Amino acid sequence: MAMKRIAINTGGGDAPGLNAVIRAVVSAATNRGWECIGIRDGFDGILQPERYPSGGFVRLTPDTVRGISHLGGTILGTTNRGNPLSYPTRTPAGETVLADRSDDILAFFASKDIDALVAVGGDGSLTIAEALGRKGLKVIGVPKTIDNDLDKTVTTFGFDTAVTFATECLDRLHSTAESHQRIMVVEVMGRYAGWIALHAGIAGGAHGILIPEIPYEIDRVADKVKARDQLGRMYSIIVVAEGAHARGGAMAVAAPAADGHVERLGGIGERVAHQLQERTGKEARVVVLGHLLRGGSPTAFDRLAALRFGAAAVRALDEGKHGIMVALAFPNVQYVPLAELIGRMKSVPLEGDTVATGRDLGISFGD
Ligand code: F6P
Repeated sequence: MAMKRIAINTGGGDAPGLNAVIRAVVSAATNRGWECIGIRDGFDGILQPERYPSGGFVRLTPDTVRGISHLGGTILGTTNRGNPLSYPTRTPAGETVLADRSDDILAFFASKDIDALVAVGGDGSLTIAEALGRKGLKVIGVPKTIDNDLDKTVTTFGFDTAVTFATECLDRLHSTAESHQRIMVVEVMGRYAGWIALHAGIAGGAHGILIPEIPYEIDRVADKVKARDQLGRMYSIIVVAEGAHARGGAMAVAAPAADGHVERLGGIGERVAHQLQERTGKEARVVVLGHLLRGGSPTAFDRLAALRFGAAAVRALDEGKHGIMVALAFPNVQYVPLAELIGRMKSVPLEGDTVATGRDLGISFGD
């Protein structure tokens, strides 16, 4: 069946490059004579229309997406609380329960004559897309996350921007850390994977990198700081992924999962800084880069990846494909079944050359 109208949404935490995907999807669809609809805030625009006085969805035309490829965020908005398979819904008795609202989404698509959905998101959003696909909706997934933890794609857009910014921050911290002869602990996002910490830590000349994939012993990290002191290098920079944890210890959870919202990590930087200060007698300071890693303009790499993903999503639909995710497999994009992704996470491979590079450079992983 030829496409006439497609929809696009962005779900989960934002990542630089979302607007570039939207722009590419709208351009490629318009060039084929198709209409494009943007859904606001994940699926909230469909499931909570009362919140949107001017409509929970918008018609997207080349005019509405002109000049947005370089902008961070998403013109459609996003949410990481709106899983339609488990959606907070008020019962007539005034109670809030988690209900499966996927049929409401399918009904919306049917009522608006929308033939397919391009779902741009991370593991959560793509799991939703896969479930909607199984219920009969034609979906194409586009992999987004600064965390780079999605399987079946070499990288996700947003990751390079996060790494580039974190690296710049590390570059800046060297001089102040050295001037004060301090330990600087830099906590970065990444959820349960250490990609951002590993890549930025190596690029930014960190002396220690702690990632979830390699549980650390704080004494080994303190040994590294002391060894540097003995060489007359009186400062140390330690990058800590938010999901890092001591061997046999627990991750630092800032807020437990609740009300359809996933667990939020945070606080490991403080813990590590305190313990290092105790063990070395040196002053330690913490910098939490947090959401700064998600903001700002996408790097050229992420912008190009996002534009390629968006265009490839439309080409896939044109070729009659659906139930797949667009993936990067240098030098080209390729398509992988969404079902192959579900429940999988891409961790840092311990046998990979990036970890080996860190070790060859003398960086401590705390093991
Ligand atoms: O998945 C992206 C991410 O930025 C993670 O690195 C982080 O753990 C999480 O989202 C933070 O989410 P929130 O926007 O809810 O604080």
